[in-house]
Amino acid sequence: MKIGVPKEIKNNENRVGITPAGVLELTKNGHQVYVQSTAGEGSGFSDEEYKNAGAEVLGGIKAVYDVAEMIVKVKEPIAEEYGLIKENQVVFTYFHFASSSELTDAMISSKAICIAYETVEDKDGTLPLLTPMSEVAGRMAVQQGAKYLEKPIKGKGVLLGGVPGVEPGKVLILGGGTVGIQAAKMAAGLGAIVTILDVNLKRLRYISDVMPDNVFTGFSNEYNIRKLIKTYDLIIGGVLIPGAKAPKLITRDMLKEMTPGTVIVDVAVDQGGCFETTKPTTHENPTYIIDDVVHYCVANMPGAVPYTSTVALTNVTLPYVIKLANMGWEKACAGDEGLHKGLNIIKGEVVYEGIL
Ligand SMILES: NC(=O)c1ccc[n+]([C@@H]2O[C@H](COP(=O)([O-])OP(=O)(O)OC[C@H]3O[C@@H](n4cnc5c(N)ncnc54)[C@H](O)[C@@H]3O)[C@@H](O)[C@H]2O)c1
Repeated sequence: MKIGVPKEIKNNENRVGITPAGVLELTKNGHQVYVQSTAGEGSGFSDEEYKNAGAEVLGGIKAVYDVAEMIVKVKEPIAEEYGLIKENQVVFTYFHFASSSELTDAMISSKAICIAYETVEDKDGTLPLLTPMSEVAGRMAVQQGAKYLEKPIKGKGVLLGGVPGVEPGKVLILGGGTVGIQAAKMAAGLGAIVTILDVNLKRLRYISDVMPDNVFTGFSNEYNIRKLIKTYDLIIGGVLIPGAKAPKLITRDMLKEMTPGTVIVDVAVDQGGCFETTKPTTHENPTYIIDDVVHYCVANMPGAVPYTSTVALTNVTLPYVIKLANMGWEKACAGDEGLHKGLNIIKGEVVYEGIL
């Protein structure tokens, strides 16, 4: 199959759909990969590396869309790309159709086969192509939080690990899912005192079993949250109720209970945020302050670390890309229930009930 990898043109998107390692695997399977020149640059992969792995590097985005039977990318197509997508072309990427009727209409008109990363499921019903981005965001939440605790950028002036003779900082994590557990690992590794609150006791039991001694668990309710926020330095929001807006666990009035310079990182900002005062921010301007509390609410945290994010994402997408290329989309989806759930629009027809 002819597979095309265009350069992402969405503002500040530096990830790429296939790495040179992926090109090598696809080439070994008898496929031809066409990569747009400089597509991998933002993630640290040169045209030369792609060529050495067996790809053909093409000058412009149109050439890639023109030649490819399947396009593999990262972000949903934006308006400039709509007209490039061809009838019967497979497009495998994040789409998030529910949040854009314009995109949905454009993809219906294109008559392409749209397979969305975010709705592909594992056998256990989890979303394997979303997990790596939560892993990145969870780990980054602590890195960013630790930085914004520094006094010159309006933080409390606390070093999370402490030093001999000075107690460590305290990190409160709301939600013990993928984001929460990765954040906890990082914070615990720095030597902080960490508490994870969740409403799922089975999850809390698991966390309690596997985490080091400086990680504690608690049940998530208003009473416990109000008690803990008074003394914690960094608060990370990583809750998710699938298909719903995040619950507002930290209300505006609670900010006054925190000590000045407390940092709150709302990773759940993409689901509306779990703090009442959350509003989405960007990497250019990641924080704002309300009631002396530093808010970090970047909606695409993995975008800041494109090398790690690209490799983490393509580790999980590549097996599906190979399957789609080897078998063709119809056979591949028929034989794999989880991949079948990724089908959102087929040749002008919406088939995923979430966007019907
Ligand atoms: N900002 C970003 O760049 C970025 C990147 C990746 C993921 N995210 C977002 O982070 C959020 C978390 O993702 P995840 O993969 O960890 O989800 P997950 O499903 O693995 O975990 C969510 C956890 O929240 C818990 N929860 C639900 N209600 C709760 C409550 N009231 N109190 C405490 N815990 C509660 C659940 O029991 C679950 O353990 C999602 O909204 C996701 O979209 C954001």
